[in-house]
Amino acid sequence: MTLVKTQKLCAAEARVTRVEHPCRAHVRLHFALPSFPKSDPGQFVQISAHPNRDDAPRELCWPTDEMPRPMMADWSAEDAFLRRPFSLADRRELADGRSELTVISRAIGRGTRWLDSLQIGDALNISGPLGRGFRLPAQSDTCILVGGGVGIPPLIYLARQLCEARFSDVVVILGAMSRDLLPVVLTAEPACNGAARECVLLADGVSYPSIVATNDGTLGIRGLVTDALREHVSHAGILADHTHVFACGPERMLHAVAEQTRALGLHCQLCIERMMGCGMGTCLSCVTAVNDASRPAGWRWGLACGEGPVFDRDRLKWD
Ligand SMILES: Cc1cc2nc3c(=O)[nH]c(=O)nc-3n(C[C@H](O)[C@H](O)[C@H](O)COP(=O)(O)OP(=O)(O)OC[C@H]3O[C@@H](n4cnc5c(N)ncnc54)[C@H](O)[C@@H]3O)c2cc1C
Ligand code: FES
Repeated sequence: MTLVKTQKLCAAEARVTRVEHPCRAHVRLHFALPSFPKSDPGQFVQISAHPNRDDAPRELCWPTDEMPRPMMADWSAEDAFLRRPFSLADRRELADGRSELTVISRAIGRGTRWLDSLQIGDALNISGPLGRGFRLPAQSDTCILVGGGVGIPPLIYLARQLCEARFSDVVVILGAMSRDLLPVVLTAEPACNGAARECVLLADGVSYPSIVATNDGTLGIRGLVTDALREHVSHAGILADHTHVFACGPERMLHAVAEQTRALGLHCQLCIERMMGCGMGTCLSCVTAVNDASRPAGWRWGLACGEGPVFDRDRLKWD
């Protein structure tokens, strides 16, 4: 008998419980639901990034013998039509039995601007948890979390999970273009020489030694997270076979992390953020090339929303 692994999903209305602005461009939204299935860091939720339309359905009309042909005006309405994907940035169970989820959103378009406008008590509809998240190594292993820009949120949730599982050998490397674009709360000034120190409050009650890199040098070291990773690994005297790098960020950054960790013999899991229309395997907007030795060509197309968004480094076909 084959056992099929199942995952519980929910689609529900949530209420905003807290709104924070950790930096100029990001909003950190906490929202509560009556319950939420078990979730892992690296998994994401799809958010209807517009007011609940239940009492005002939008209608499109077309002749019955034709395919629907929505006009540009239908797609370019004020509201974001498709749900938008966001990594879970934290999760807590509240004393009253509800689940509180956190997302950190950077306002870049109509959906994220709507999220930016939400106030405590506002409603939003979410579905999830979706995709596959990070797998934890042995508790005694070394973990290095590398997040760049909008890739930072899933690593915050991962830090929460590592903290709860009592991992002690953890270093967090965060990068942003500039000081005012880093979506975390600082508790001290990060070192300018790349030394890891507790200077970032990652989530409520979660802090690990951290290194910050900014492109313009306004916070931490001047440079890229990959510069910080190279420096850290060369000075920390780590055991390659017991060191795991978890990374999320722009694709060029992930490619560089993949090359670095491969050259150093470190384990590596990467969370990729592809364009996602549905988040659940139907629209094919998130296709990504994955290595597959069982195929004649040695690779095939996979779906980032279902097989990922977290992949083992060597599963992704970069070229
Ligand atoms: C798995 C996953 C996790 C993500 N996690 C976060 C997160 O934690 N924080 C965060 O700020 N952003 C995250 N994103 C990106 C976020 O989904 C997009 O910024 C958002 O969908 C933009 O919506 P918009 O309506 O504001 O912008 P739009 O006006 O629709 O588009 C602006 C730009 O955003 C990009 N975009 C639009 N829709 C998507 C989409 N469905 N998927 C990816 N890119 C899109 C397009 O490249 C477009 O050029 C994640 C994306 C994925 C795939
Ligand atoms: S997002 Fe639609 S198939 Fe992956």
